[in-house]
This record gives sequence, C-alpha cells and structure tokens, in this order.
Amino acid sequence: MNVLLLGSGGREFTFAWKLSQSPLLTSLYIAPGNAGTTAFGQNVSIDINDFESVGSFVQAKNIEIVIVGPEEPLVRGIVDYFQAMPALSAVKVFGPAKKGARLEGSKEFAKIFMTNNNIPTAAFASFTREQSEYAHAFIDQIKNRIVLKADGLAAGKGVIIPKTKEEAHEAIDEILVNNKFGESGKVLVIEDFMEGIELSVFVLTDGVHYKILPAAKDYKRIGENDTGPNTGGMGAVSPIPHADPEFMKKVEERIIIPTIKGLRDDNISYKGFIFFGLMRVGEDPYVIEYNVRMGDPETQVVFARLQSDLLALTCATMDNELGKAEIHVNDNTAVTVVLVSGGYPGNYEKGKPISGLSNETDGIYIHAGTAFDQEKIVTSGGRVLACTAWDKNLEAATQKAYSMADKVEFDNAYYRRDIGFDLR
Ligand code: AMP
Ligand code: GLY
Repeated sequence: MNVLLLGSGGREFTFAWKLSQSPLLTSLYIAPGNAGTTAFGQNVSIDINDFESVGSFVQAKNIEIVIVGPEEPLVRGIVDYFQAMPALSAVKVFGPAKKGARLEGSKEFAKIFMTNNNIPTAAFASFTREQSEYAHAFIDQIKNRIVLKADGLAAGKGVIIPKTKEEAHEAIDEILVNNKFGESGKVLVIEDFMEGIELSVFVLTDGVHYKILPAAKDYKRIGENDTGPNTGGMGAVSPIPHADPEFMKKVEERIIIPTIKGLRDDNISYKGFIFFGLMRVGEDPYVIEYNVRMGDPETQVVFARLQSDLLALTCATMDNELGKAEIHVNDNTAVTVVLVSGGYPGNYEKGKPISGLSNETDGIYIHAGTAFDQEKIVTSGGRVLACTAWDKNLEAATQKAYSMADKVEFDNAYYRRDIGFDLR
C-alpha cells in the first residue's frame, strides 16, 4: 500500500524507519521529511497544513493511508477535511478528527473533559481576556504553588511555572493582556502545581479497543540536572522504573479506560495515538496533559523496542480491528540522546555540515533537523539528531548512545550528558 507520512522530525524519521520494514508497504512518501528519511522513502515538499495540496498529492499518487506525525494538522482538522471531500473520503487518515484533537488543542477543553470523567488531574480554573482581573484576584486568595498555561497550541512554550506571586501576576498580564501567546492565549488555565516524577504513556486506540505501548521518560530541560529552559526534549529512556506494573494498572483503570470511554460518551470518534503526559505523585498517577500524537523524542525509544508491524497496526486501528491485533515489544532498554544546535531553544544557526554518521548495530542515528546541501548533510533545526541505542540494560544502552553522540560532529553541537543517569 502507498503511504504518506506527514512531518519532518525525529518522530517522523522513526515512523518512516518502522514503516519501511512492513511487508504491506509499496511506496512511502514523507512530507516534508528530512535528510535521513530519504533512506526509507521519497521526500515531498508540501506544506502539511495546506490540506488542499496534501489532498492533491494523495490523489496523484494513489495514497491509501496518511499518517499524521505532529499535532498541528490534526488540531486544524485534516481528518475532517478528508472526510468532507468526496474524492478523498475513502482515504484513511491516521489521527483524531478536530473534535478529538481538542484534547491537545485546548487545555481548557482537556481539563473540563477530565473533570467530567473523574480523571485525576490538578485542580484548575480558567479565565478569558475579559476576566484578567478575576485571574489576579483568584491567585491572591490561593496558597498553593500554581502553573499557568495558554489554552491553545504554543509549541511547548505555553506553560509558565512562576516562583513568586509577583511572577504569577506578571504572567497573567503577559498572557491575557499583552497577548504573549497570541490566539493560543485567549484563555488562560491556572492549575495546582504537582510535585512528582513525570512519565509519558502512549496508547493506540481505534476508539473502542486500545493497546498500551511501553512508557518512557523525556528530559525536557536544556541543561543537565533539569536546569534551564524547556525544549522539545533532549533525550528519552524506555522502559522506566517508575512505571511499574502496579502503577500502570492504576494508569489504565483511572486514566486510560475513562479517557476512551469519555470520548465515546461524547460521540468523539478517535483513531490514533493518545499520549498521556503524567505525573506520578507518591503512588498515584495524575494527568498533566494530553497529546493527540506520539511524543518526540519518546517515539525514538518506544519504537526502537517495537517488534510488531507498525503499518499493520495503523491499518488495524483504521479498520476498528485493534481488538484482534497484538503489540510485541522487546525487553531491551532503549536510550536516545539528542544532539542540538548551540543556542537552542533560543536562536541558533543552521546549515552546519555534519560528519561522523555511521551505520550502527543495536543503534541508529535518528535524523531530526537535517537537510541536504548538495550531497552534504547539514543541520536545519534546533534538535538535529537523536542518537538512539538499545541493549539488555540501561547502563549498556546509555553507554552506547553516548558513544554514538561522541562520534558525530557539527559546529557548536550540544547534548546533555546525564540522560538516564537518574534512573540508574
Ligand atoms: P505541558 O506543556 O502541559 O506538558 O507542560 C510542560 C511542563 O510543565 C510539563 O512537562 C511539566 O514539567 C510542567 N508542568 C505542567 N503542568 C504542571 C503541573 N500542574 N505541576 C507541575 N508541573 C507541571
Ligand atoms: N516529548 C514531549 C512531546 O512530544 O510533547
């Protein structure tokens, strides 16, 4: 079958790598892809948020399934667009329609959904631009530490954790009055700060059945020991000790099952991944956020352990047959260390030649922000490569991932040297 994969990061490289192993695959196209994805299929330069162009390409190439990597096309309604077009409605688009994508597209919607379905999450209140005075008054009368969030998509930058009341007041004005996050900050969500350990849990669902993938930990801050600004993710590990079977049973019963049931109760048909960003507080799981796609860089380590056919799983999802499918995952530990351009997540330069990439056994250089400049592979983004390795245990996998990271060179490369060390 002919497949079109949308996206260009490390997550999409990982999808392309796994899809290319499927006997069901005829041709794989990646829009827009990166230098690395050309090893698995043909890159096509289409704007993935221009649904008309995506639709024309799908018709021209007889694409049977479109797999959407990032959230933005889903939140903008790519699934709804295809369903509404007679010429495209038979094409399978993997991912939720607009209504379901609101789980990620609107934090207020997600909080209300969780409250309605008794899903554990931090207590919250939300305020519109017209209600900024109430937001100020609200934080004056509470004692708890709080977190402020822009309601809409903000590329991972819409969360502020103020250290003092003054900072919190300033943040309210930044979001609601000065429009720091534009339209995404039309509504402000204020919630209780939760103290605990984070984890990422991934579920594949056809709306009725579901399969739980291995949990992973993402390292979000730029600096070692979790310091400095948030990034898209500087590394990841799977499996993780804090997702033990007893804890995961609570996650399934209190969070996963009520989420899927809640979507059905609201008549929201949902096919795709649900990414539960969780906080383990003591022995109990709480939802920090939902995402309607796989994580990046968590996909790199989760799929490195996946032994099942990813294309068969996506087809089973689209055909409501996930109940009959099985997901096989090996017992390895997978670790990924992300090499970034110096300056990221702030300003950084692009176009730096990359050297030292090699073929590895038990490891793979996952391209994220790479492009071709003539024949040369050069940097083209903040997160450039995810050096991903697997082995029988965490120590061995970590060592391998770091030896891979050490071998690669580009001007001003940076990576954290403590990925996985807290889990040893
Ligand atoms: P989000 O974009 O909602 O995942 O938030 C980004 C990061 O902010 C999370 O990964 C957490 O580290 C942190 N965070 C968000 N909400 C909370 C909360 N209620 N309590 C503690 N930390 C939080
Ligand atoms: N690694 C976090 C995310 O994909 O949002």
